[in-house]
Amino acid sequence: MKYLTIALAKGRLAKQTLALLEQTGITCEEMKDKDTRKLIFVNEELGLKFFLSKTSDVPTYVEYGAADIGVVGSDTILEEGRKILEVLDLGLGKCRMCVAGPASARALLQKNEIIRVASKYPKIAKDYFYNKKHQTVEIVKLNGSVELAPIVGLSEVIVDIVETGSTLKENGLEVLEEICPLSARVVVNEASMKMQRERITKIVKDLKQALNE
Ligand code: PRP
Repeated sequence: MKYLTIALAKGRLAKQTLALLEQTGITCEEMKDKDTRKLIFVNEELGLKFFLSKTSDVPTYVEYGAADIGVVGSDTILEEGRKILEVLDLGLGKCRMCVAGPASARALLQKNEIIRVASKYPKIAKDYFYNKKHQTVEIVKLNGSVELAPIVGLSEVIVDIVETGSTLKENGLEVLEEICPLSARVVVNEASMKMQRERITKIVKDLKQALNE
């Protein structure tokens, strides 16, 4: 039996996904060892391989077929724009992609002013402002703590993930516009879906069922 390889995004989502997979009878004992430095884990019996990668790399591994299946947030899927099949919404890690800033920036968004937008997600920001709002903006790519940008005067607004809203609130910022809801998705390599359709659809079906239990 050919191995099916599953790529998981390092962190909380991987833990939640493994718990969900366990409900479907798919386990990976090797992966539970907290001290391990191994990167790839095998369940010989089920013919499965698992690996943990940086979140933003999951769609890349799946597009190239290095992983047959991946589990990753829809923010990453949208930003990476890879050619992959999105087959299931796990509803985990629900949050929203938003335009945020100080209340005073609201007027700048309505007047179609040329403003600076800081974001870890330049592609999503560009798509939203250029294609949906038809507003010309300057996009500045940052790598984290994006809320700092409007506070220190780098940009007027940000495009970022809002979950509880407390990071914004504690920094005197607010949601100005909502771009889209986000959650974790199961993605599949296009060729794998053709070659291993039965095994993959069974896993997806079992996951769907586990979500409803
Ligand atoms: C994310 C996001 C916000 C925060 C939102 O950051 O970029 O900063 O969480 O959560 P909240 O609405 O519940 O406050 P993350 O912790 O991933 O780190 P980062 O700032 O380095 O991106």
